[in-house]
Amino acid sequence: MTMRKPSRRLSLRRLLSLPSFSNPGHFLGSLPQMLKNKPTFRWLHELMKRIDHAGIACLRLGNVHVILVTCPEISREFLKNQDAVFASRPVSMSTDVTTKGFLTTALVPLGDQWKKMKKVLVKELLSSTRHKWLTDKRVEEADHLVRYVYNQCKASVDGTIVDIRLAAQQYCGNVPRKLIFNTRFFGKGKEDGGPGVEEEEYVAALFTILSHLYSFCISDYIPWLRGIDIDGHEKVMDKVLGIGKYQDPIIDERIQQWRHGIKKNAEDLLDILVSLKDNDGKPLLMADEIKAQITEFMIATVDNPSNVVEWALAEMLNQPEILKKATEEIDKVVGRGRLVEEADFARLNYVKACAREAFRLHPIAPFNVPHVSVADTKVANYFIPKGSHLLLSRVALGRNPKVWDDPLTFKPERHLKEDGSPVALIEPELRFISFSTGMRGCKGVQLGTSMTVMLFARLLQGFSWSIPPGEEAIDLTEAENSLFLAKPLVAVAKPRLLSEVYPGN
Ligand code: HEM
Repeated sequence: MTMRKPSRRLSLRRLLSLPSFSNPGHFLGSLPQMLKNKPTFRWLHELMKRIDHAGIACLRLGNVHVILVTCPEISREFLKNQDAVFASRPVSMSTDVTTKGFLTTALVPLGDQWKKMKKVLVKELLSSTRHKWLTDKRVEEADHLVRYVYNQCKASVDGTIVDIRLAAQQYCGNVPRKLIFNTRFFGKGKEDGGPGVEEEEYVAALFTILSHLYSFCISDYIPWLRGIDIDGHEKVMDKVLGIGKYQDPIIDERIQQWRHGIKKNAEDLLDILVSLKDNDGKPLLMADEIKAQITEFMIATVDNPSNVVEWALAEMLNQPEILKKATEEIDKVVGRGRLVEEADFARLNYVKACAREAFRLHPIAPFNVPHVSVADTKVANYFIPKGSHLLLSRVALGRNPKVWDDPLTFKPERHLKEDGSPVALIEPELRFISFSTGMRGCKGVQLGTSMTVMLFARLLQGFSWSIPPGEEAIDLTEAENSLFLAKPLVAVAKPRLLSEVYPGN
């Protein structure tokens, strides 16, 4: 008996049968609609609502099949059962320039360069041993965060309005700068511990890079349009990658110090990268590999922890009983006589449940980092051609009413385990996406978790927070063009510990 092969055309048509997609046979696919419906991610989510029952859909942008997924079971089929098939990344103009021609890890298609840099990252920069080696640097930055907020509010009995977004984002820039370059600031910083112009420019540039990496730029689907810069993204990227002026001279100088034997002992991650040797005893990494990998490390670190803590605090200011419960947990586990340390994290389950809930409800990005299939395959009975782009919706998974009761309400209790077992920020079952899973899953879970919990717990422990006078509630409206809070979170901070507990200036 002859077996019938799955019909590629039929099953594709099934995938392409979204009601809103006019003229799917057109050579541009849905690109014309995409250009008319900005921001693209909101348009795609509107379309996805219409295919809610299926949990998967496909649209064509130019020649690229883009697979959109909103269902956790189907997400697991992709990233667990068929992980190796979907282990590549798309090539985009912005990832190309950010990675200096795909020299890094996270943004690089499957291949030898990805393998080489992944090994460096996992074994040399992010291993548990290295994490331990870097503990003092992380503690310095956690202390600095508390000092910076304390300096702003210590003089006023009624408390002072503090920009939580600024404090959180700068902490998330300071930590990796300290780990990599052994310095908090590129310039002098501000007297109160706040960022100088250099750090403000640097962190703002990192967020601009992040928002442009996979931003549905037209030349990513019609490559010959690159250079014409129809979306203006090339100009933006050119400008923001100018932050190389802060880090590249330090990297070049450090390479010279090691080459000439002036430096012999590793003190930070840059030393590690520069001193790695290949089998012939030659430097393993070129200067451009180090520079691009460091930029990628910075962008991988700066966004998620700061966004999650900002949203969690915003939600908790509107639900003071949750804020109270989290603070009481810290008082019980740590007390008020010393600041939270990493060793406390295991017992801060309610605090971690609040962070998890913010990951679920308020992801920083609408989609997981895109994956690309390296072979034809079939998922959930649909034929998926080689080269398809896979977009798991972080928003639709985390807010999926079939998975989560009352999905739009911030309820940390839903993450507490009945047996009291520890809460973690990972979600390998993909019911929402924090660090994702599989071959291309996050390599920085330990550092990312430690930064998120430390930032959150220290802000909760060190200060009592309240809604600014004259406002009834924190406005939880999302920005139109991103998933950030529309307005940066500001709140009144008052010290809640004895002055001697705060780190000295
Ligand atoms: C709370 C903090 C963090 C969160 C929530 C997070 C989340 C993610 C997510 C969702 C992905 C995409 C996974 C996929 O494609 O399926 C990813 C990839 C990645 N992350 Fe993180 N991340 C965090 C921190 C970090 C840190 C501190 C590093 C350290 C450099 C890091 C390094 C990476 C790398 C290298 C990849 C790509 C792996 C690959 O493509 O092979 N992340 N992360």
